[in-house]
Amino acid sequence: MSWVTVATADELTDDVPLAVEVEADEGPLELAIVSHDDKLYALENECTHGKVALSEGDVVGCTIECYLHGGAFDLATGEAIQLPATEPVRVFPVRQEGNDCLLYTSDAADDSLRVD
Ligand code: FES
Repeated sequence: MSWVTVATADELTDDVPLAVEVEADEGPLELAIVSHDDKLYALENECTHGKVALSEGDVVGCTIECYLHGGAFDLATGEAIQLPATEPVRVFPVRQEGNDCLLYTSDAADDSLRVD
């Protein structure tokens, strides 16, 4: 099973992205976890326009906006919806169970996880 705990609900503040890192088969996978409007979202934590962390940006409605040039991505689909970003970011299934925020990655190593 590849559901792994990446954060606790206590660590999340609505509309404030939380940077976490999962050790996956492909190597460390950095993610931005977002709680917005009673839903959780998990996106790869790197803007596709540049190599900056999306978790440093702002949540605006159902999007996360890159702080560097203002590119924006849909929280649910990762689609780039605002220039200069044009390529989507990867998104991952995430859900809350009790106080745990669980992330699904098909290749995550369950016991090699840390939260920044
Ligand atoms: Fe993110 Fe340019 S680096 S929009």
